[in-house]
Amino acid sequence: MSKEVVLSGIRPTGFLHLGNYFGAMRNYVRMQNDYECYFFVADWHSLTTHPDTKTLQQSVLRVVAENIACGLDPEKAAFYVQSSVPEISELYLYLNMLAYKGELEKTTTFKDKVRLQPENVNAGLLTYPVLQAADILIHRAVKVPVGKDQEQHLEMARNFAERFNYRYGNVFPSPQAFNYGSELVKVMSLDGNGKMSKSENQMATLYLADTDEDIRKKIMKAKTDSGPTEPNSIKPDYIQNLFTLMGLVSNADTVAHFEQQFNQCTVRYGDMKKQLAEDMVQFIAPIREKAAALQNDTKQLKAIIEHGAAKARVSAQQTLQLVRDAVGVNYL
Ligand code: ADP
Ligand code: TRP
Repeated sequence: MSKEVVLSGIRPTGFLHLGNYFGAMRNYVRMQNDYECYFFVADWHSLTTHPDTKTLQQSVLRVVAENIACGLDPEKAAFYVQSSVPEISELYLYLNMLAYKGELEKTTTFKDKVRLQPENVNAGLLTYPVLQAADILIHRAVKVPVGKDQEQHLEMARNFAERFNYRYGNVFPSPQAFNYGSELVKVMSLDGNGKMSKSENQMATLYLADTDEDIRKKIMKAKTDSGPTEPNSIKPDYIQNLFTLMGLVSNADTVAHFEQQFNQCTVRYGDMKKQLAEDMVQFIAPIREKAAALQNDTKQLKAIIEHGAAKARVSAQQTLQLVRDAVGVNYL
């Protein structure tokens, strides 16, 4: 039986952080053994918000190096850059005819971007979810490992796929957001305001490139309060987030110890943060060091993405042939 197809992408818009790791990359590394995997760097998507391309090439190579440092194996998964697979742009064109202005304008990420960059509300920004759907559907992927922030984009991809199938015939399966465990992950920012992200509030985001000192400083500054006053209280978001982070990088006994202290109102957040900072350093340092070493080897990084693009284009061309036949733009 052929393996299910998996696809996911990350924009090269800055340093990768813990949200990227736990929402996306951790799943890539686990999935590459069991599925036919396609992972890519979404450089076209980054143009919707980052029109200046002076540092693009460097950012793309850093994202590649950081993914490999996290365990992505380019022999197991096809790992490529979006713009090296031009078939995606043709599929994007067909899907654009099936996407309506009203629904695109209602997309949460579009509304956020309009607020953030009112001087550059370009059509690429509006059709961002269509390009994302093309990324996924070009390999007829069914599982898409992403964080919770991508749920709406996945729902839109399913809608475009269904509309295509209904109008032209059955070509696409229905892609679903995926995480091991039942829920999609959202890593909050350390100040308790929104999610960790590449470009916003850098002191509240833990990057995979942070030094040990950065990590300790950021965690010690994370928002807390004077502690619970009643046993077994519900945790405020920002406290829950510290426990979540601890659950991700510390061992189970450590988490259980602080959970118990919280429930008995004896928790000292200073001690908890010290422990979390040390466990986080243990977790991030090896990734940072491996990525730094790889980043200097531009030749190897370029060989990796060339190899990945060749694999991805085989699959993309097969899908595009089916698409052209279905749409009826095949005149040979
Ligand atoms: P960013 O939002 O930091 O710019 P991307 O948009 O390139 O990062 O996202 C790449 C992947 O990382 C996506 O699968 C996204 O869902 C995931 N991701 C980003 N931020 C978080 C977060 N704070 N928590 C969980 N997953 C996240
Ligand atoms: N929009 C995604 C993000 O911001 C990045 C992305 C582009 C993506 N194309 C994709 C994710 C296809 C999954 C599948 O995180």
